[in-house]
Amino acid sequence: MRLGILISGRGSNFEAIANAIARRKLDAEIAIVITNRAGSPGLDIARERGIPVRIIASQGLEREAYDKLLVEELQTHDVDLVCLAGFMRLLSAHFVRAFPNRVLNIHPSLLPSFPGLDAQRQALEHGVKITGCTVHFVDEFLDSGPILIQAAVPVLDDDTVETLSARILAQEHSIYSTAIQYLVEDRVTIEGRRVRIREDERP
Ligand code: GAR
Repeated sequence: MRLGILISGRGSNFEAIANAIARRKLDAEIAIVITNRAGSPGLDIARERGIPVRIIASQGLEREAYDKLLVEELQTHDVDLVCLAGFMRLLSAHFVRAFPNRVLNIHPSLLPSFPGLDAQRQALEHGVKITGCTVHFVDEFLDSGPILIQAAVPVLDDDTVETLSARILAQEHSIYSTAIQYLVEDRVTIEGRRVRIREDERP
């Protein structure tokens, strides 16, 4: 399975996916990493590993015009699955239609709680005792498509946004590759909002 990874910043989820591939826990290859921000530190991680990168700046472009550029680039690289990894833009219906049920996102909360920006801060301020992270299919709405996998993370009394974010991030790094591998193994079916994952049939 050829992955197209979209980032806007640090790229630690992208790096975790690349590591899972290197350790043969994930049977996929990264065809292209695309960022909308020229200064994304994640670009250096890609370059160090010899993974093709492309900067497609979004400034001054309408959403759909921008998304057409993204789709073209992903199709040029024969991408089977698009993985949003800290890509801080909403995708248009045009984009989602180009890759039906083939776009994943990772979000640092137990959706549908705390969509949008600063999910970890939202969870702390709300006072929840458990939060976590979610890998979900992407539709044209914010953090809203069918949920593939989630991991729970307890909120501790002395947590700050930083300490809580770090524990959630460790879980993100683990569940994203697991979710992608479910798709690689063709174990996933979507029924309405519910996503079923068939038992692993390997001996
Ligand atoms: C991650 O925590 C990811 O879940 C979050 O941005 C961070 C990116 O980190 N994404 C969202 O909030 C999307 N709504 P990374 O660049 O190190 O992977």
